[in-house]
Amino acid sequence: TVYDCSLIELSKHHHEKGNITVVENNLTVPFDVQRTYYLYDIPGGESRGGHAHRDLYQLVVAASGSFSVTLDDGSVKRTFVLNRPYQGLLIVPGIWRTLDDFSSGAVCLVLASQKYNEADYIRNYHEFIVYKNNGIK
Ligand code: TYD
Repeated sequence: TVYDCSLIELSKHHHEKGNITVVENNLTVPFDVQRTYYLYDIPGGESRGGHAHRDLYQLVVAASGSFSVTLDDGSVKRTFVLNRPYQGLLIVPGIWRTLDDFSSGAVCLVLASQKYNEADYIRNYHEFIVYKNNGIK
């Protein structure tokens, strides 16, 4: 459910010349990171996501700027504003997500538990609701 998704406080090493945040496999994140990607140059007013994953775990970080992530498990919706590079939003499998309100220059960093696999996506909202009601996840 959306209550299994939460903001994780990441390490923040402060230096006079700048900060560094570290994410470690199976320690900071409760999964093995198999893939990293980032969204950037997102035009104003654009929204991303609009799908769910069957098995994928993700940690989403606003590496720069800010954006909103709305999570929906088919019953409950929760919206998180991400605007700190040292916070990550853990998204568990079976959650419909929408990302919007990107600030200019926002960078959305995503750490994922599996390689890219189109078969893991549910891209149709009606199909998502049917999938949830089948009680699989
Ligand atoms: P998608 O996950 O649908 O985008 P969004 O960021 O809006 O959630 O990804 C958009 C396209 O990018 C997808 O159709 C294929 C490609 N893509 C890859 O090839 N590999 C990846 O790891 C990802 C995340 C996307």
